[in-house]
Amino acid sequence: MLHPGEPRGHPNSARLTRPGRGCPVESFVLTLAGITKAHGPRTLFRDVSVFVGRADRFGLVGPNGAGKTTLLNVICGRESPDSGSITWEKGSSFGYLPQETAPAGAETVLDLATAVTPEFAELRDRLRAMEAGGSPACLEAEFEDRRRFDELGGYGVETKARIVLTGLGFRPADLDRPARAFSGGWVMRAHLARLLVREPALLLLDEPTNHLDLEVLLWLQDYLARYPGGLIIISHDRAFLNALCTGILELRGQELLRWTGNYDAFVRQRAAHVEQQLSLHKNQQREIAHLQRFVDRFGAKASLASRAKSKEKQIERLKEAAIELPEEDPRRISFRFPQPPRSALRVVTLRGVRQAYGENVVYRDLNFHAERGQRLVLVGPNGAGKSTLLKLLAGVIPVQKGTRELGGSVTAGYFAQNRLDNLDARRTVLEEAMEMRAANPGVTERLARTILGGFLFRKDDVFKKVAVLSGGEKSRLALARLLLAPPNLLLMDEPTTHLDIPSIDALVNALRQYEGTLIFISHDVHFIRSVAKGVLHVAAGHLTPYAGDYDYFLEKSHAAGAREALTAGLGGARPGGRERPPPAAAARAGPKTREQRRAEAEWRAARSAPLRALRAQVSDLERTIADLEARQAELTAALEAPETYAHPGRAQALNRELSGVVAQLQAAAADWERCASGLERIEKGGG
Ligand SMILES: Nc1ncnc2c1ncn2[C@@H]1O[C@H](COP(=O)(O)OP(=O)(O)OP(=O)(O)O)[C@@H](O)[C@H]1O
Ligand SMILES: [Mg+2]
Repeated sequence: MLHPGEPRGHPNSARLTRPGRGCPVESFVLTLAGITKAHGPRTLFRDVSVFVGRADRFGLVGPNGAGKTTLLNVICGRESPDSGSITWEKGSSFGYLPQETAPAGAETVLDLATAVTPEFAELRDRLRAMEAGGSPACLEAEFEDRRRFDELGGYGVETKARIVLTGLGFRPADLDRPARAFSGGWVMRAHLARLLVREPALLLLDEPTNHLDLEVLLWLQDYLARYPGGLIIISHDRAFLNALCTGILELRGQELLRWTGNYDAFVRQRAAHVEQQLSLHKNQQREIAHLQRFVDRFGAKASLASRAKSKEKQIERLKEAAIELPEEDPRRISFRFPQPPRSALRVVTLRGVRQAYGENVVYRDLNFHAERGQRLVLVGPNGAGKSTLLKLLAGVIPVQKGTRELGGSVTAGYFAQNRLDNLDARRTVLEEAMEMRAANPGVTERLARTILGGFLFRKDDVFKKVAVLSGGEKSRLALARLLLAPPNLLLMDEPTTHLDIPSIDALVNALRQYEGTLIFISHDVHFIRSVAKGVLHVAAGHLTPYAGDYDYFLEKSHAAGAREALTAGLGGARPGGRERPPPAAAARAGPKTREQRRAEAEWRAARSAPLRALRAQVSDLERTIADLEARQAELTAALEAPETYAHPGRAQALNRELSGVVAQLQAAAADWERCASGLERIEKGGG
């Protein structure tokens, strides 16, 4: 591995960077030495070496298609290197979360998450079968199984799995459902839970945040920050890497470079390094040119011929040692996308919609319409119903009560986080693009190639089979296909997942030209700023539109406060909007009339009764949460105590109670959040 801090690093001189004194080599979980790997004609990395210690927290970064996933595959033995060696510390374990798919069978989510090792899963299943009525003849075997099961963590594993699964967003009722009933993203979460429960010495995570909403992402970030082993995490999420990493491994131009510090530190060091390389390069070129001038001028002169010869040799030496300039990111090319046919002015309307998932009512009486040409981002707390709103608008889920109406000649297209499923693995990139001719007869090979080029598929890349594409390449292909035959109402849920920065720029470039109506969800502030022209805040089943860009929204909602936003006529359906004091009382100066005073008193009374009730509710909920948390701690401790397992059935009873407590806690926390934010709104809004 090259150390960028060394000014004259030669591109192919891989070197093991051993730590200083006092850090024994035994503390390395993993050593890669001289690893090379090619796919077909393309060498992804050459002669790459790295040591990974138990306390190392590496972010593995590099553009889409650089070979990050391949490197992790090589490390965990799913692919073999062309040369080089991989050494694991004796007895150390690793856990690997793949980027795209992970298997799920008929087992429940909880069973998947507790299948920490095959042996553990087997013991768990055997003991369960025995409890359900095993034969008394195998008492001895049962005893031995139980002993070993406890040795491997016993029921404590399940407790931990419940906590982790809850953190990753599963509801208690989900845990006993079969894993394969869940979407791919949720299966990945269950596998992630399994790895976190198992706690291997080194965790290898390939874009773990792709499947998470912001709330769960923050939970994971916090959990990993306290993780007791080493980490190698591939991610394009800077904030996530900044919060977690103490080192960055950068895969670029067949090299693996190691940088110290988090992602921001990496960016800074890298910029300084590039700068330094540039000036070295310039100096060398200047020197070469100077020598060359001498050779050109005096090379023919007999008296100076020998000196010219030696200068020529010097030039050769300099050229050999010349610094190669770092490869620049592919340039953004601008080109036109096909525009969708024009739709009616009112594109889609929701009227009186009530939408619920079981008990959880997301919308009670939702009214909304979108107009042609809008470019709206949905923002708001998680679980507030952004994705539900998007799916309702797209018609992906049916309206339970109320109506959804599409305007004249509107075609709706929905692009979800992981909608790569309709790509055919056997086809090539170009074939997949040409297939869009069925939806848009205007698609020619030339257009397909131009748009694929816009999404960074260059030259022979278009003949690659879908099966071998990297995660980011698949996302780019899916987007290119969508934009070859764009619908005139486009609904996108986190479209930048898997994409590196140049690919996000390509998407921004396309969406800025798009003349249809766009409604999207994103966590990427840069992307939102570049694309959105309006903001719709979704919270507790209410929509508040902001007729300006993201910065306008920030200004109105934070800097200026909710009250100003209301008086500026931006309140929309904001709850509590009706509770403003009568305008007469607020507007007129001077001594108040009796009616004014009465009106104000009435308003205060009307406002303070629910306010008092809400305050009481919030503090009640806080008490309930504290009690439940205390009980949760007691139960967890009891489950971890060895004596619990001396009483048959005791652990199961405790576990049952624990899952009940966890469920109650979740519900109470959700209620608290709703009430507390309602209270805050009223307090702020009322002044
Ligand atoms: N079996 C294969 N045969 C041919 N090419 C392959 C094969 N597997 C991967 N590739 C190519 O190797 C390159 C590296 O793929 P890899 O999945 O490692 O990239 P990555 O850095 O993880 O990218 P991303 O950020 O998009 O996930 C890609 O261009 C991919 O198309
Ligand atoms: Mg990858």
